[in-house]
Amino acid sequence: MNSSDIADLLSHPRVIETRDHLHHSVPKHDHMLRVARYAYYLAPILGADQRTATRAGILHDLDSRLGTLTTHGAIAAQVAAELGEPTAVSQAIVSHMYPFGPRPTTREGWVLVVADKIASFTDLTAFVGGLFTGRSIRVRRRLCVTDPFYAARIGRRPHRRLMRQLQQTFSRI
Ligand SMILES: [Fe+2]
Ligand SMILES: [Fe+2]
Repeated sequence: MNSSDIADLLSHPRVIETRDHLHHSVPKHDHMLRVARYAYYLAPILGADQRTATRAGILHDLDSRLGTLTTHGAIAAQVAAELGEPTAVSQAIVSHMYPFGPRPTTREGWVLVVADKIASFTDLTAFVGGLFTGRSIRVRRRLCVTDPFYAARIGRRPHRRLMRQLQQTFSRI
């Protein structure tokens, strides 16, 4: 992949922070980078604009926690627009969950649908592969602490909060 298409986005705080967010049991950054990579290679095959599809890939799940399976595409599309991306990028993002959500209206949208499905499968295989070494569990535990969505849930459950305090205590020993 030619990273220069997304170099500015890779160094953007909204993208960097996703290294600490949980998505499909892996860091969300891993997932979004996979989608960007697959979109980059799929775009010429499907006759789509490569740069648009790749940029949509690296942004497509931002703030996904604020929506549902069918609505988070619209939320991420709005975030992309707020970051100054052109309409074509948001259009590609909004329908990436198809058939759970709106049908794509552009070639780049179809690229995102396919890239996201392949990446989700790759996330799963990476997670299962990491179970054998213990890496997947370690990463998941870390992300459950660093992801604000999970941290908030843990804060509402006393036994989880206690477990988290114990984990932090023992990690310092
Ligand atoms: Fe998504
Ligand atoms: Fe995704």
